Amino acid sequence: MKNRYAIILAAGQGTRMKSRLYKILHSVCGKPMVQHVVDQVSQVGMDRTVVVVGHGAEKVKEQLGDEITYILQEEQLGTGHAVMQAETLLKDKEGVTVVLCGDTPLITKETIESLIMYHEQHNAKATILTAKASDPTGYGRIVRDRQGAVQRIVEHKDASNEERSITEINTGTYCFDNAALFEALRHVGNKNVQGEYYLPDVVEILQRQSELIAAYQTDSFDETLGVNDRVALASAEEIMRKRINEAHMRNGVTLTDPNNTHIGAEVMIGTDTIIKPGTMITGKTVIGSDCEIGPNTEIIDSYVGDRTTIKQSVVSKSEIGNEVSIGPFAHIRPDSQIGDEVKIGNFVEIKKSMFGKGSKASHLSYIGDAEVGSNVNLGCGSITVNYDGKNKFLTKIEDGAFVGCNSNLIAPVTIGKDAYIAAGSTITNDVPENALAIARERQIVKNEYVTKLKEK
Ligand code: UD1
Ligand code: CA
Repeated sequence: MKNRYAIILAAGQGTRMKSRLYKILHSVCGKPMVQHVVDQVSQVGMDRTVVVVGHGAEKVKEQLGDEITYILQEEQLGTGHAVMQAETLLKDKEGVTVVLCGDTPLITKETIESLIMYHEQHNAKATILTAKASDPTGYGRIVRDRQGAVQRIVEHKDASNEERSITEINTGTYCFDNAALFEALRHVGNKNVQGEYYLPDVVEILQRQSELIAAYQTDSFDETLGVNDRVALASAEEIMRKRINEAHMRNGVTLTDPNNTHIGAEVMIGTDTIIKPGTMITGKTVIGSDCEIGPNTEIIDSYVGDRTTIKQSVVSKSEIGNEVSIGPFAHIRPDSQIGDEVKIGNFVEIKKSMFGKGSKASHLSYIGDAEVGSNVNLGCGSITVNYDGKNKFLTKIEDGAFVGCNSNLIAPVTIGKDAYIAAGSTITNDVPENALAIARERQIVKNEYVTKLKEK
């Protein structure tokens, strides 16, 4: 097998995005565009993958990590100039080089593999991945001769009206004979409307040298969508969302309204889980089997066990066990660990707290910086008073404790095992195991007080 290299172009600013964020770092289904491209390329298996960086180089490197070779394109003089930056690294290698753009996030490993195969079967010096576009505006067009052989690629901005009527576009992904690529790049000039060194000009240069140019046309235009502005970004998101959702459905997950369900590219979901409308699951979230999630639920970077129900709620950076019931209208904030069979009901906020097996906070509570044991019952309106305006303090509620309604637990404080807090208490001192604590005024009843008032 021949050596295989990949060059991914990611140096542009992306002016048309009108953004402070570099174009290729904009996310599609929660993953930066360039990361999508890198992930697909790495599954093809390349001897070396080179990413050309420029604008936002540090941010791009931070995103992609150290397994990649980076090359700096100091000035963005065009896609041909960008590839040229890899010359010293790759020029003397024998084999094929696939060039891709960091702004085509929908490209798949299968298509890249087919492109390489087509290139090798045809013994071409260059093979262009092309597609038929219903609206080719903005793309380079594939100019063929009468016999159908590829002559050159003309950029939209440089094209004549006749050329603009061509619907076969350059997707920006190519496969080259490595030596031929770098040799031809030396002859690329910048006499064009944009004054840039165009990579596609390599095609015409090789064609003039009577080298064989092939075009591999994919029937999925969607996959080759180039994102230059936010309208295309939304289209890419829509296509990727559909792709992700279909993969989950094929894996045994029910989505009752896939058009209204947003699942991040890296999320994992077990079989027979049902996801209801308006739900957004993002980051590296893992959800188990037989769960019911949604409607209208957001889960971010969290782990959820099996047979758990979460409705109309937000869960962020937390771990949720098996057979847990959350919501409606609960908020589980970061660093919480909710044990098996726990119930978190409506209008309950939990922050950085642990709940042991079978504990309940069914209504209207704030539990922050707390360690709650197992089988604890937190009555309606239980509040951990964890913050004095400067520091945060811990509340410990041991197994089996019962906290009556509308209680304030002023941290730091420990409620012992099986202890009982009377409703309406403000607890400032530790409560021992098995004790009852009442911390409120006794009720006074003044009989006939009102009658006397009226008589006055
Ligand atoms: C490019 C192609 C066009 C093709 C389209 C497909 C050229 C001249 N045109 O146009 O034929 O139809 O892609 O989507 O190649 N970049 C650099 N350095 C530079 C310039 C660009 O790294 O100096 C990177 C950008 O970050 C981007 C990619 O190259 O990821 C493509 O550049 P872009 O300006 O988006 O090219 P298009 O106008 O879309
Ligand atoms: Ca582009």
